[in-house]
Amino acid sequence: MECTLAYSVLFLIFGQSTRINQKQSELKNNHKMAIQQLMDEALIPALQQRREQSLYRQRRIITGPQNSNLQLDNSPVLNFCSNDYLGLANHPNIITALKCGADKYGVGAGAAHLVNGHSHAHHALEEELADFLGRPRALLFSTGYMANLGVITSLAGKGDVVLEDRINHASLIDAGLLSGARLQRYLHADVHSLDKHLQKQANYNDKRRLIVTDGVFSMDGDLAPLPALSTMAQQHCAWMMVDDAHGIGVIGKQGRGTVDHFELDQHQVPILMGTLSKAFGTFGAFVAGSEALIETLIQQARSYIYTTALPPAIAVATRTSLELLRTSDERREKLTTLIKQFRNGAEQLGLTLIASQTPIQPLIVGDAQQAMALSETLLQEHQILVSAIRPPTVPEGSARLRITLCANHTATQVDRLLTALATSTQKMAQ
Ligand SMILES: Cc1ncc(COP(=O)(O)O)c(C=O)c1O
Repeated sequence: MECTLAYSVLFLIFGQSTRINQKQSELKNNHKMAIQQLMDEALIPALQQRREQSLYRQRRIITGPQNSNLQLDNSPVLNFCSNDYLGLANHPNIITALKCGADKYGVGAGAAHLVNGHSHAHHALEEELADFLGRPRALLFSTGYMANLGVITSLAGKGDVVLEDRINHASLIDAGLLSGARLQRYLHADVHSLDKHLQKQANYNDKRRLIVTDGVFSMDGDLAPLPALSTMAQQHCAWMMVDDAHGIGVIGKQGRGTVDHFELDQHQVPILMGTLSKAFGTFGAFVAGSEALIETLIQQARSYIYTTALPPAIAVATRTSLELLRTSDERREKLTTLIKQFRNGAEQLGLTLIASQTPIQPLIVGDAQQAMALSETLLQEHQILVSAIRPPTVPEGSARLRITLCANHTATQVDRLLTALATSTQKMAQ
């Protein structure tokens, strides 16, 4: 009897407290839902607006390796929008090197370079890159974006001036903003505009001035006027940095990039950045320069210090791709032939291209919606993949198809693209 009473009391207390807990968790959940609802309600109109302006960005799912022929959602398409300019991303020797690298080092680097993530493979690649580019040192970064953030924020700060080409890559612009220096954007490839900005800074002789430019402009494919820019840098005692993400591997002797193409050296362009994700066909980035520059970055670049090192197997694979890239010009020569073929064909069709001699051959459309429609027609009716690039990646009114050529393309494939462009642009004009 006593026992039953005790159970009843316990049941009452326990049952009641369970109900209270349930109520509390319901309230909590409702509160959570309310917060999420508030957030979503704030986000959705901007997404909707992007859709209406044909600026919505979407990912496509690739189901095979990077190549001139791609598997897109399991269907074959002809690929004209990759940065794998030399066709190395799927090269058998580089794949084998990656596997050997993984056998030796495992997969993850395990830590940042300054902890215990800096392997012999990383170090050897840095030495080989420095040797290739004729500079005392090179330093690996996990991505090009991080390399740019690291360099600019380490070299410029409050009171300094960073001068950038107006259409520099987003990572360079972001780095300039993050540095806290005054960011001045000069007109595209316009040395007079840069000069005007530099003249205005003449009273700030004790402050650093850093001129920063893409070597090959990523969305236009043209080259920066490096000789004139470096002369200007010397006249104004400014430092100079070139981001040669799209130049290294592709132009210059043995693929040494834009600086080499213009026969400049480290005295004229002391800071050279390159990526490994484009012509090298692997992943990551590096900065090459003097001992003092590289040691400064190791001490100060937060995007170097506070992040995990690249997987060492990637460094092993990249050593193989560097070897392939510097020992033969065959792929670069093939690219040059394809670029000429495409430009001649486009001219005959009356298509207006930007004056670019690099594998980046943009076709300016203007309106974002039309650029999207042209890209969609090429895909749906011709199984050709060329992505439309729209603002804010490119200036308002200059939406385009960013056509890129790769050494793996054949002349027949380039002809197929030209034929498809002819019919698709005619269809759009009707
Ligand atoms: C000029 C330029 N710099 C930097 C980057 C960033 O490199 P990553 O993709 O390695 O971050 C890119 C493109 O990706 C680029 O086009």
